Amino acid sequence: MVALIEKYKAFLPVTDETPVISLQEGNTPLIPAPRLSQRIGAQVYLKFEGANPTGSFKDRGMTMAVSKAAEEGAKAVICASTGNTSAAAAAYAARAGMKCIVLIPDGKVALGKLAQVQLTGADVVQIDGNFDDCLRMVRYLSDNYPVALVNSVNPFRIEGQKTGAFEIVDELGDSPTYQAMPVGNAGNITAYWAGYKAYKEAGKASRLPTMLGFQAAGAAPIVHGAMVEKPETVATAIRIGNPASWQKALTARDESGGVIQAVTDEQILEAYGLLSSEEGVFCEPASASGVAGALMLAEQHFFKPDDSVVCILTGHGLKDPGTAMSRSGKEVEVLPVDGENLAAHLGLK
Ligand code: F0G
Repeated sequence: MVALIEKYKAFLPVTDETPVISLQEGNTPLIPAPRLSQRIGAQVYLKFEGANPTGSFKDRGMTMAVSKAAEEGAKAVICASTGNTSAAAAAYAARAGMKCIVLIPDGKVALGKLAQVQLTGADVVQIDGNFDDCLRMVRYLSDNYPVALVNSVNPFRIEGQKTGAFEIVDELGDSPTYQAMPVGNAGNITAYWAGYKAYKEAGKASRLPTMLGFQAAGAAPIVHGAMVEKPETVATAIRIGNPASWQKALTARDESGGVIQAVTDEQILEAYGLLSSEEGVFCEPASASGVAGALMLAEQHFFKPDDSVVCILTGHGLKDPGTAMSRSGKEVEVLPVDGENLAAHLGLK
């Protein structure tokens, strides 16, 4: 295997002098989804970013951001996070031998993400506020103290995340008709759009996809055209009221002729359950919002049978075991060691 930075070197701002800090990220599966295809009425693929080393798409951007920070001689990195960015920053910083500082919103980070960060030994602080407050604080700290900011306001993060689009085109042979994805701080939709455009310019794709972005209804500033003071959603990864790349998300939407719409928590959880029970793919709730959105559009007969729709499943289901347990709504029973009793209980006889 080759590091993402090496594989896509020609499309990334690196030189032979850039130290490559890699955990063999990227090269994630593009999984055909037959049952979802049937429901949606088009050819649906799931880009399973949970297969990255820290379990989310953030690794694509973080390998770039931390490699460039190392090139510039940084000794420490800092980020605000709803969980996944911090897990990636902490892992790549550990790999680079750098200190990592993480600011997270009070009590709203899924357990798997917090567990990952804690074990790296990163300095983790909860802020009595939301993600937007955390982002303001890390901007302040990195402006005034010697620590490199690795949120997606760092342009190298966006550069690295473009590789998701490259992989999709490499595998499908061209851009899909549509790409559906969650939108939080709006870095990823910005990155994918830049990636597709770069590949088309290089002659690697003949067309550009239409971008379909989805925010959670309780955290949908881009949809409503106004900041959300107190964002709320079960999809804590995208619980963001003032996205840093707001304007760039609008550009991706408008240049591609796409949409950015809201999906409710119930729609998100419904899609989250379907992905698991019908396709065997376990992603975190925020990741399911792209699928929830595609299902919603399908109800309005938005897609044609020959369309290809790639849904970006941004993070692994194991990131948020609490939501999986509560959504299943089932207790696991304890029964005696008795074959016939078990057979009866399980409806086998
Ligand atoms: N999906 C997941 C699983 C995420 O963790 C995020 C963002 C998004 C989607 C949205 O991507 O912000 O580029 O629009 N998580 C950030 C974090 C905010 O701190 O981990 P975006």
